[in-house]
Amino acid sequence: MDQAEGLRRLMESENGEVYSRPPFSSILENPSKTIPKVISITSGKGGVGKTNIVANLAYASAKLGKRVLVIDADLGLSNIDVLLGLSPRYTIEHFFRGEKTLSEILIEGPGGILILPASSGISELAHLDEAQKLFLLNEIELFSEDIDILLIDTGAGISSNVLYFNLVAQESIVISTSEPTSITDAYALMKVLYKQFHKKDFHLLINFVLNEQEAKEVFRKISRVVDHYLNNLSLRYLGFIPLDEKLPLAVKKQQAVIEAFPKAPSSRNLFTLAKLLCEKPPNLQISGGLQFFWRQFLHYQSRRDQRGEES
Ligand SMILES: Nc1ncnc2c1ncn2[C@@H]1O[C@H](COP(=O)(O)OP(=O)(O)OP(=O)(O)O)[C@@H](O)[C@H]1O
Ligand SMILES: [Mg+2]
Repeated sequence: MDQAEGLRRLMESENGEVYSRPPFSSILENPSKTIPKVISITSGKGGVGKTNIVANLAYASAKLGKRVLVIDADLGLSNIDVLLGLSPRYTIEHFFRGEKTLSEILIEGPGGILILPASSGISELAHLDEAQKLFLLNEIELFSEDIDILLIDTGAGISSNVLYFNLVAQESIVISTSEPTSITDAYALMKVLYKQFHKKDFHLLINFVLNEQEAKEVFRKISRVVDHYLNNLSLRYLGFIPLDEKLPLAVKKQQAVIEAFPKAPSSRNLFTLAKLLCEKPPNLQISGGLQFFWRQFLHYQSRRDQRGEES
C-alpha cells in the first residue's frame, strides 16, 4: 500500500462506497492546468506555534508575490482569523450547512492572503465525514488556478481531520519544540501517518529554541528514533524559529510578527523559510500530491469497476 492507497482508505465511506467525482478531477482532465503547492503545517502536541507559523508564512509568501490561500483546518477550534484581527461573517460551518459557497466565506487578510475561516466551539466539525471532506476539496479545486500556495493549519493531534489534511498535502511540515512531550508527539504523528497511510516524507521545523544548535539537537533526537523504527521514512531538517518575545506581542496586536516587527529574530527566520517554500518546486513525485493521489484514486476505481463487470 502506498500513500495514495492509504488516503483512499481514509476517504471510503463506512459502507465501502467510493465517491464518483473525485476532487481536482478537472486537473486530471487538463494536466497542463497549474496546481497550487499544498503544504500542511502540523504537530502532535498543541500550542507549538502552528497557527503563527501559517499566518506568517502566508503573509511573507504574499509579499513575495504569491497568491496564497490559508485553510484553517483546526475546524472545531479555529483561531487564525483572531490571530490576524479578522472577524469573518461566515465560516466553514455555513458552507457545510449548504448556506454559503466557499467564495462567499473566504475573507481577505493582510497582504491580500485569502483565508478560509473555520468555526470555534463546533464539535461536529472536529470529525468531518468522508462526504464532507470530498465536498470541501471539490470546492477548493475551483480556486486552484487562482492560487500558488495553499497552506493548511491542521490543528494538533492524530484525529482523522489532522491525518486527512496531512495526506492531501504535497509537503507536511511537522512542528516540534525541544520539550520531550512535543518531541514524542511529533514522532507519534509521523508514525501513524507512515504506518497506517504510508506517508513517507516529512520536514521538521523546530520552534521555541534559543539557537540553531538547540534546533539541530532536537532534529537529531527525532531522526535517531525515526531511523531506528521507521526506516523508510524521510525526515528533513527545515530550520528553526527562535523563541522571541516579539511574537506574543504581535499576537496581542493581532498581527503577523513579520508585519508588526519585521526585524524581530522570529520574523527573519520565518521570512527565510517562506522564501525557501516559494522557490521550491511542488513536490509532486514524493508524496504524490493531489494530482497524483487522484490519479491513483481513479485507477483504483476503474479496477473496482472492472472487477464488478467481471463478476
Ligand atoms: N517562536 C516563538 N516565540 C515566542 N512565543 C511563541 C513562538 N511561537 C509561538 N509562540 C506563542 O505560543 C503560543 C501558541 O502559538 P500558536 O497558537 O501559533 O500554536 P498552535 O500550535 O497553533 O496551537 P494549537 O495547537 O492550540 O492550535 C502563542 O501564544 C504564541 O504567541
Ligand atoms: Mg493553532
